[in-house]
Amino acid sequence: MKAIIVEPTPPDYPLRWAEVAAPTPQDGEVLVDVYATAVNRADLAQRTGHYPPPPGAPEILGLELSGVISQLTPGVRGWQVGDRVCALLSGGGYAEQAVVPQGLLMPIPKGWSLVQAAAMPEVFFTAFLNLFSEARLEPGETVLIHGGASGVGTAAIQLARQAGCRVLATAGSAAKVAACYRLGAELVVNYREADFGEVIAEQVSGVDVVLDMVGSGYLARNIKLLNTGGRLIFIATLGGSRAEIDIRELMRKRLLLKGSTLRARPLAEKIALKEAFMARCWPAIESGEVAPVIDRVRPITEAEAAHALLQRNETIGKVVLEIKTL
Ligand SMILES: NC(=O)c1ccc[n+]([C@@H]2O[C@H](COP(=O)([O-])OP(=O)(O)OC[C@H]3O[C@@H](n4cnc5c(N)ncnc54)[C@H](OP(=O)(O)O)[C@@H]3O)[C@@H](O)[C@H]2O)c1
Repeated sequence: MKAIIVEPTPPDYPLRWAEVAAPTPQDGEVLVDVYATAVNRADLAQRTGHYPPPPGAPEILGLELSGVISQLTPGVRGWQVGDRVCALLSGGGYAEQAVVPQGLLMPIPKGWSLVQAAAMPEVFFTAFLNLFSEARLEPGETVLIHGGASGVGTAAIQLARQAGCRVLATAGSAAKVAACYRLGAELVVNYREADFGEVIAEQVSGVDVVLDMVGSGYLARNIKLLNTGGRLIFIATLGGSRAEIDIRELMRKRLLLKGSTLRARPLAEKIALKEAFMARCWPAIESGEVAPVIDRVRPITEAEAAHALLQRNETIGKVVLEIKTL
């Protein structure tokens, strides 16, 4: 089969669509002909050696796929060759074939294309996990989502709105701000033009949850904005990972600060997450109330250019890489 391989040549680590050995499914896994995958920020870090795959995960990039099952193994129940599926992966999506444990398989939502389905697993699972399991976001609460126009941000805004929460967001351009409003945010701050801490403090009495991917420079303002009992969840450190905290503020407001990653979790946790996600979100997904925001679709052979778009922070939502068409 063909897959994207990373040439080990710094500083660019070029991507090349090349012949590699096809993966072999173990018992309880299926082989999928991949039709589409999507780019995640983590792929950029893995490519340059800054985010190695967890033990046992494929070296090939790609944290999600959509496609058609081409081979079963004896322990697989309830799935057939020819079924159209999508799935979260621990790696291997930038390829013509990938192996998926049966517990991670999801059907293609009714009415969705394979392209749409490939854009869903990683960012929707991340948003769902962090908003509802880690932060315990409740209906009626107010959540601040940084990077509102990112893949994760666009999923998080929709899930939080759908759960009956007030959503605030930050983003770095007028087009991104507009996209966040379209998705249902009620206040969006362009952090390049105004201090989000000041604007939000002027217009809102406080926030219950912050979903943060920026880190260092945002920490003091995030803590200041949080209400008593507030929760701050870190999912990335795009703006730096070190900062100082006045512990007394945490004590006074009884704040919870928590970091979280999805990829390194054991398979059983990911399967439980998929089941919780499907139980709660599938009706909204199939009704079209919630859907991935797709910035553009590119052939897999243009993975290099697709990475550059994310690197330059030019995208709103997801970039899908098409490998095969129906
Ligand atoms: N912990 C986990 O389990 C987990 C899972 C998935 C993703 N993530 C992380 O979550 C983040 C979002 O992922 P994604 O794939 O959705 O990314 P993405 O679509 O590439 O979007 C990231 C956005 O972050 C903003 N940004 C970048 N650098 C920034 C900075 N220094 N300060 C403020 N904003 C900055 C940019 O938007 P603006 O133009 O608005 O600045 C950029 O478009 C990534 O860092 C990713 O690694 C974590």
